Amino acid sequence: MSPTEIGTRLNLVRRGRRLRRSPAIRAMVRETRLSPDMLIYPLFVCEGSGVRREVTSMPGVFNLSVDEAVKEAVAAKADGVPGVLLFGLPAYKDEVGSAAYDAQAPVQAAVRAIKQADPEILVITDVCLCEYTSHGHCGVVVNGEITNDESVGLLVRVAVSHAEAGADIVAPSDMMDGRIGAIRGALDERGFQDVAIMSYAAKYCSAFYGPFRDAADSAPKFGDRRSHQMDPGNSEEALREVAEDIEEGADIVMVKPALPYLDVIARVKAEFGYPTAAYNVSGEYSMLKAAAERGWIDGHRAMMEMLTGIRRAGADIIITYFAREAARSLR
Ligand code: PBG
Repeated sequence: MSPTEIGTRLNLVRRGRRLRRSPAIRAMVRETRLSPDMLIYPLFVCEGSGVRREVTSMPGVFNLSVDEAVKEAVAAKADGVPGVLLFGLPAYKDEVGSAAYDAQAPVQAAVRAIKQADPEILVITDVCLCEYTSHGHCGVVVNGEITNDESVGLLVRVAVSHAEAGADIVAPSDMMDGRIGAIRGALDERGFQDVAIMSYAAKYCSAFYGPFRDAADSAPKFGDRRSHQMDPGNSEEALREVAEDIEEGADIVMVKPALPYLDVIARVKAEFGYPTAAYNVSGEYSMLKAAAERGWIDGHRAMMEMLTGIRRAGADIIITYFAREAARSLR
């Protein structure tokens, strides 16, 4: 029997395949599009000059000295990526993370240098203490506990020092209670009304930050981050966290990580209709890169599918180590 002889004629009114027949038809009915201008590229800035040190667990991601970070930000913009998110690897660490608000530290220096190279590059800074404290925690530790209110006091100083350096947006990632309101107040008091706050509002306690902690040398020396980052099982709580941060003055709210929390992204976007960012974190990057390196997955297609999924869930902004690669392929 030939294949046509086997066939029956179905009298179908609807045939989904009609609109999947050609690239032109598929493109015409595509619901979700990615565009480079929704991508933010994270950079890890370290001391020195001419430094470009690849992070072992994140192929294609580097620790960059300020001069190299400027080149990378300029190159990203040429690829179509409008903004960078800066993390710092300071020269010294102490109990209270004082290098985090040192005007000469790598992040502050990089903000100034990038703005000088091209004022149109959007510069966002991560506000946290874990890269700066000797114990690797996101706040001040007293009697083995990460204190909230004392930590907020320091985070405010960090945010102000980033604004003084010229940051467009500060992004607190610490998950201490009340820090958005405190930072908003301090910025306004000093004349930084126009510096926006992108709050890591629903940040989960996630195993997917592992490679980042290699990149930023920020793994806690004891304990973990469960006392402040969210429990992976919770989404009602994420809505409360987002509501509070909006109330306190957040301009953009973020869900982090992205892939295991697509439902949270969707709920946050639907509930608040606020500019919503999703952080496609280090572990999401590394697992895809590792599988692609082994030839176990088509890295490029998987990357685009991953980013499309995050966008489809409702993210307006995607922070991703794939930003340059994705932007180049979108152009
Ligand atoms: C700082 C911070 C972390 C990330 C962003 N900001 C790490 C953490 O909370 O331990 C993770 C980003 C990533 O994994 O790509 N607190």
